[in-house]
Amino acid sequence: MRCLKLSRSANQVVDFNSRNLIFSSLNKLGFRSLVTSCRAVVLPRFGGPEVLEIREDAQVPALKPNEVLVRSRAVSVNPLDLRIRSGYGRSILEPLLPLILGRDISGEVAAVGDSVKSLHVGQEVFGALHPTAIRGTYADYAILSVEQVASKPASISHVDASAIPFAALTAWRALKCTARITSGQRVLVIGGGGAVGFSAIQLSVAAGCFVSTTCERESIDRVLAAGADQAIDYTTEDFELAIEGHFDAVLDTIGGTDTERIGINVLKHGGHYMTLQGEAAPMSDRYGLAIGLPLSTALLLKKQIQYRFSHGIEYWWTYMRPDPEGIDAIRRLSELGKLKVPVQKTYPITQVKEAHEAKEKRLVPGKVVLEFD
Ligand SMILES: NC(=O)c1ccc[n+]([C@@H]2O[C@H](COP(=O)([O-])OP(=O)(O)OC[C@H]3O[C@@H](n4cnc5c(N)ncnc54)[C@H](OP(=O)(O)O)[C@@H]3O)[C@@H](O)[C@H]2O)c1
Repeated sequence: MRCLKLSRSANQVVDFNSRNLIFSSLNKLGFRSLVTSCRAVVLPRFGGPEVLEIREDAQVPALKPNEVLVRSRAVSVNPLDLRIRSGYGRSILEPLLPLILGRDISGEVAAVGDSVKSLHVGQEVFGALHPTAIRGTYADYAILSVEQVASKPASISHVDASAIPFAALTAWRALKCTARITSGQRVLVIGGGGAVGFSAIQLSVAAGCFVSTTCERESIDRVLAAGADQAIDYTTEDFELAIEGHFDAVLDTIGGTDTERIGINVLKHGGHYMTLQGEAAPMSDRYGLAIGLPLSTALLLKKQIQYRFSHGIEYWWTYMRPDPEGIDAIRRLSELGKLKVPVQKTYPITQVKEAHEAKEKRLVPGKVVLEFD
């Protein structure tokens, strides 16, 4: 493989079209990895927003055959980014520091690996990395496998596109891969105002399901406009009493003791309860990987058996997983305007600390996106 070093300053002197033409021509000539270093937001140690460092010389590894180099135009801030920054998953991630945070991305293909035929240099794409990826997307150039990206819908901006994949793929994993929802079924989304919950509502509506959800007053109009049949303001109503009927699937984005109890009690026989707050990482962090992981697996199995006998339901911890079928379906729905994650505020990537602080202090409750110059 031939490799050409292109620094960020060199990158800045040519406009988008010229750069894409150069990248495309070089790619065809066999120069697979055009960038060897770039600017990135690096996490050298766990802590508050102040630990984040912008470095100009983060390494860009050579592309593997199935990988795509994406020039970032926008990356969204997910709760997972904040949690990892604070030490969540330290049992796995601590030895791998320094890390680059970020899962979501929207940008342009800058280079493709040898076996990638479905994408070309200059193409606009969006996608998301696996939750445990150590080289994230808060960088001028990110590397994703070809299964983790899809063509960006032309009708939406990079900012709007970057807000969708991680959240929507999490909802997809729960509803389509685990519960396998079908038309006419009833779905309850606990926490429908957030990015995952709101995506879950829209995926369920698109699948032809009847949807109930709980959220704060500020989110009620938005979830009803997205097609939810029932929206309960959990801050003023007793949502256990307000929920109507029984459900085939419950996606619990909150995962508290009460939401779990209520979610399980409102399921039909054979229904699926899925929480986003699985115990694998917290228990591994608390007891170390060697004890925490088997302990959490035992806890999950115990709960699965217990609820199967006591309620006749299936109990799951849901984790986001990249899924080529999922990202393609998400692309189609986004293109049709049937799947959106509203962006409340954008920050330049240089203000990543401010963006994390705003999310952490809930100064901005909605989606925050970091933009690249
Ligand atoms: N297991 C996994 O793989 C996985 C993957 C993704 C996320 N998660 C976890 O799931 C949880 C939810 O994630 P998320 O990405 O959906 O978080 P999020 O978008 O930050 O939403 C969190 C909460 O913020 C409120 N909110 C969001 N947008 C709002 C707006 N525009 N106006 C008012 N309130 C708003 C919502 O409250 P209301 O619902 O009360 O309105 C929502 O429940 C997090 O704990 C995250 O760590 C887990």
